[in-house]
Amino acid sequence: MGKLLQVLIVEDSEDDTKLVLEELKQRGYNPVHRRVETPEEMKAALRQNEWDVVLSDYMMPRFSVPEAMDLIRKAGLDIPFIIVSGNIGEEIAVAAMKAGAHDYLMKDNLSRLSPAIQREMQDATRRREHRRADEELRNSRQQLRDLAARLNSIREKERAWISREIHDELGQLFTSIKYELSLLRKRISKQEDRPEAKTDIEERLKSMSEMVDVAIKTVQKVATELRPGILDDLGLMATIEWQTSDFQQRTGITCRLHSDLQAIRLDRERATAVFRIFQEVLTNIARHAGATRVEIRIKEKAGHLYLDVKDSGRGITDEEIADPKSLGILGMRERVLLLSGEMRIIGAHKKGTHVHLKIPLETSPESSLPKTEA
Ligand SMILES: Nc1ncnc2c1ncn2[C@@H]1O[C@H](COP(=O)(O)OP(=O)(O)OP(=O)(O)O)[C@@H](O)[C@H]1O
Ligand SMILES: [Mg+2]
Repeated sequence: MGKLLQVLIVEDSEDDTKLVLEELKQRGYNPVHRRVETPEEMKAALRQNEWDVVLSDYMMPRFSVPEAMDLIRKAGLDIPFIIVSGNIGEEIAVAAMKAGAHDYLMKDNLSRLSPAIQREMQDATRRREHRRADEELRNSRQQLRDLAARLNSIREKERAWISREIHDELGQLFTSIKYELSLLRKRISKQEDRPEAKTDIEERLKSMSEMVDVAIKTVQKVATELRPGILDDLGLMATIEWQTSDFQQRTGITCRLHSDLQAIRLDRERATAVFRIFQEVLTNIARHAGATRVEIRIKEKAGHLYLDVKDSGRGITDEEIADPKSLGILGMRERVLLLSGEMRIIGAHKKGTHVHLKIPLETSPESSLPKTEA
């Protein structure tokens, strides 16, 4: 018994079918076949069996090669399709190959049939493996993306929580201590006896009170850096204003913020994403640009938020933008992708860098951030 071969034969002639099967047997195949001569029969055959190869006549009264190939495509299949026909002329053969037939041979010379089948089956296997590898790659990319988004969202919640704890709990505590210290100082200054001991204690209390002042400031700074309360209290526009003036103060880089928006209509999660992107853009300017000026423009148009940040620095290069090690930029891209937005970064040598963002104001259903447990 030869090698099992499942052959779907598209052919109106019984005799020609026998001829083909005979040829296959002689070449060491054990062909299991079905002959179809109408679209209906072919559809049924494609549903009922997994075919290794389709051998199709060209001239048929009730069926055509383009129709047959179309049925295979529509069934989402990729089966080697070989035309076995009488002489149909070069032009038609070429057109059929262009339309997706894999090979073409003539009925009166079937010696090429078996090598053609072998080659096309190998090719088809290779294509299948490629497709599978491609799909696995796509899936794992998507998984990484989902994971990153989830981690971001968890991280954001954690930051908000820690920020609130530090601010409310520690902040309260230090304020109470400061109050107690000031009461103590008042009491001691009323006591008239042992003036030198009194001065010493007063000195210590004063220095403690100063330390508490520093502690309160630190608590506020850490809490704000974790997550600025202003984002939740006053919204994104106010936060960007605050970020900009804070950045200018810390770095000495002149910032201009152009916007006639009072508020930006984004929900909390999306506002957070834009805030983090803007934070990364500013941090990059401070760290890499060597800029003296930054221009920020914000506007709303046709359901989108536009944010443009231009610095006057050295200009980011295309290599830096495309570098897979540029994790800050990658993070921005991921956030933008989650928001179904667009981001472009353009660098001009010695002229500066322009980061352009376009974010839809309404959440589209497929772009919502992955849910996390509260
Ligand atoms: N405004 C800018 N001007 C000039 N170069 C820039 C600018 N922003 C980014 N770059 C360049 O692009 C690179 C990638 O930026 P990216 O934010 O991805 O990484 P990073 O800032 O070096 O590190 P991090 O992961 O901490 O953000 C930077 O290292 C820098 O060389
Ligand atoms: Mg960075």
